[in-house]
Amino acid sequence: MQQYIIGNWKMNGTKGEAQRLAAGFLKRIQEATRPLPHIVLCPSYPYLTSVIEILKDSPIEVGGQDCHPEKSGAFTGDVSVSQLVDVGCKYVIIGHSERRRYHHESSPVIRKKVESAIKAGLRPILCVGESVEERKTGKALYIVSSQLISDLPDSFAPHELLVAYEPLWAIGTGHAPTTDEVEEVMGLMKHVLSSRVTGGAIIPTLYGGSVNAQNASDLLNLPHVDGLLVGGSSLKLDEFWEIINASQR
Ligand code: PGA
Repeated sequence: MQQYIIGNWKMNGTKGEAQRLAAGFLKRIQEATRPLPHIVLCPSYPYLTSVIEILKDSPIEVGGQDCHPEKSGAFTGDVSVSQLVDVGCKYVIIGHSERRRYHHESSPVIRKKVESAIKAGLRPILCVGESVEERKTGKALYIVSSQLISDLPDSFAPHELLVAYEPLWAIGTGHAPTTDEVEEVMGLMKHVLSSRVTGGAIIPTLYGGSVNAQNASDLLNLPHVDGLLVGGSSLKLDEFWEIINASQR
């Protein structure tokens, strides 16, 4: 399976910076001499259109950082899945821990968002992961498998979504888990996910949290890691390009 490298730009930068980054990645893609992974960039909403315009004839795809579960309506400040599709998004991040924490998003809402996105033809990148307290008290595996059970819709096809393991204590901290810790959780994720689909099809699973040019290769070499969800390092052209080039397949 071709790996996935997703850049989550979060609420950073200006329109000019978003355009420069997109144009920079486009140039490198055009000059690339080796097969590349799937690359997805997720800028803030106001910059989606200009980034999509720059990348329109390239293999780099674009995603939203969140969506509302309803199709349309009186939801000031929110963005619907059909609006993301309308501007050219192919992916949407759902259930990121920053949404769960700062916007109090719970599993029923997240599950509804995943359902709406799939229905609209967007590919959700569902994020799950344990807090530092949950890890310290030995609950990481329980938390991640519970989130998978409660956040995923009853039925979906394996190619319709991606799932990212993002331990909260690793996001933006510079402290990524060890490769053994990543494998332990992601092996369980694969097991839980495989029980949800028939015929041995594989749902791609990504790792996210303090990924950088130094640890990307070790992470991407792990058997259960089908890609990376990258925050801070995806805002740096050279570093993100190194991460893209660390992809193994
Ligand atoms: P980080 O963020 O790479 O800056 O740790 C990852 C994420 O939140 O998706």
